[in-house]
Amino acid sequence: MKKEEEQLLTEQLWREAREVRNKAHAPYSNFFVGAAVLTLENKIFNGCNVENASYGGSICAERSAILKAVSEGYKKFKAIAVVTDSHGKAVPPCGICLQVISEFCDPDADIILATPKRIERTYKLSELLPSIFGKKDL
Ligand code: THU
Repeated sequence: MKKEEEQLLTEQLWREAREVRNKAHAPYSNFFVGAAVLTLENKIFNGCNVENASYGGSICAERSAILKAVSEGYKKFKAIAVVTDSHGKAVPPCGICLQVISEFCDPDADIILATPKRIERTYKLSELLPSIFGKKDL
């Protein structure tokens, strides 16, 4: 993301991720996650984690947001915010989500980690997933 739009959009993504986190369906883990992705066109799509009694049927917030965006026709993202509360701290996306994020983001995309209280840290995708397996490898 460019510097001048960073602050405003980061805050907006954080607010959306924080809001949608309240809709998470997490009766098994009680770990509530909200995510919001920013498309190249500056559209925002959000998603929450949706768990299932058959645990493997659960989906993370990041993928939930990405699937919503893709099914609306948006496939390139420059940032994603993830709101969690792990004993008061923010946590990074899981490995499966990083892989899915890498399908639709450049390595320099911003991964914004936050709690409901504050934005904690922004990473580049390449920092969290340094060696990316992708289409180029097939
Ligand atoms: N979860 C996410 O939504 N995103 C992640 O990146 C990590 C894990 C969800 C999945 C499950 O519903 C709960 O958090 C506990 O793992």
